Amino acid sequence: MIFQQDLLKDQVAIVTGGGTGIGEVISTELAKHGAHVVITSRDPEHHKEIIQKIEKLGRRAIAVPADIRQPDQVQAVVDRTIKEFGKVDILVNNAAGNFVCAMEQLSYNGWKAVIDIVLNGTYIASKAVLPVMKEQGHGNIVNIGATYMWMAAPYVGHSGAAKAGVLNMTRTLAVEWARYGIRVNIVTPGPIEETEGVRRLVDESRMREKVINHIPLNRLGKREEIAWAILYLLSPAAAYITGNNIVVDGGAWLNASHYGLGD
Ligand code: HXC
Repeated sequence: MIFQQDLLKDQVAIVTGGGTGIGEVISTELAKHGAHVVITSRDPEHHKEIIQKIEKLGRRAIAVPADIRQPDQVQAVVDRTIKEFGKVDILVNNAAGNFVCAMEQLSYNGWKAVIDIVLNGTYIASKAVLPVMKEQGHGNIVNIGATYMWMAAPYVGHSGAAKAGVLNMTRTLAVEWARYGIRVNIVTPGPIEETEGVRRLVDESRMREKVINHIPLNRLGKREEIAWAILYLLSPAAAYITGNNIVVDGGAWLNASHYGLGD
């Protein structure tokens, strides 16, 4: 346990894409620290195990299948959350999707699918919780970035453009919604162990050693380390922090522009 067990006592969190990958660990870490969790993902098969895990921790968990690109389905998640728990304290906009493809080969549908999931999905879910959080007079939204949102993102250009949009939207919402007591921040992972991204981009291309050598802290991150940054932002210790970004990447992106020197 990295923070006090009652850090988020009885708070209600919606975690989009909360059944797999980094989302799964975000969901369990929030529950370990006291929150009840509403998990959304497209595939209900992802839900069973995580729900049991959270219930074993003594918290409540429900899963609502939803495609983050569909405003009606996302609204249904919020409605169900209110029905079951009566409030929404936290939204973690974790749902994402991409695939490796050079821009030259990328079809408009492929581009649109990723922009829809990552950028429009974050917009849709944030707008869906707004009336509830506004009425409550408080709320906490954490988005997920990617370090390539600041630079060229070869072969993941759709995702780079979408994540850059998420960063900008984080800052805009932080300013516009501060008056409602809503804080909006972003956590930006580098390469993280046990994720599909690393499996596909790092392991399949046998780049693990090269990638690790490039990271000043000389290892890949753990999924928990993303969740802990989120917990900090959700905690009272971060009550004066909004529109901010915590980069959890072992210093990797700072090392990105050395023309290969020192690698
Ligand atoms: C080329 C592809 C493709 C691929 C989809 N498309 N996958 N093109 N290579 N691997 C194209 C399709 O051909 C189609 O265009 C368009 O995208 C929409 O495809 P659909 O399958 O209909 O879309 P959809 O079901 O909405 O799929 C969403 C998706 C998909 C994001 C496009 O890749 C997906 O669901 N991925 C699995 C989830 C995922 O990505 N997880 C990764 C999380 S890791 P056409 O023109 O044919 O109609 C992560 C961090 C990565 O996010 C970190 C990287 C550094």
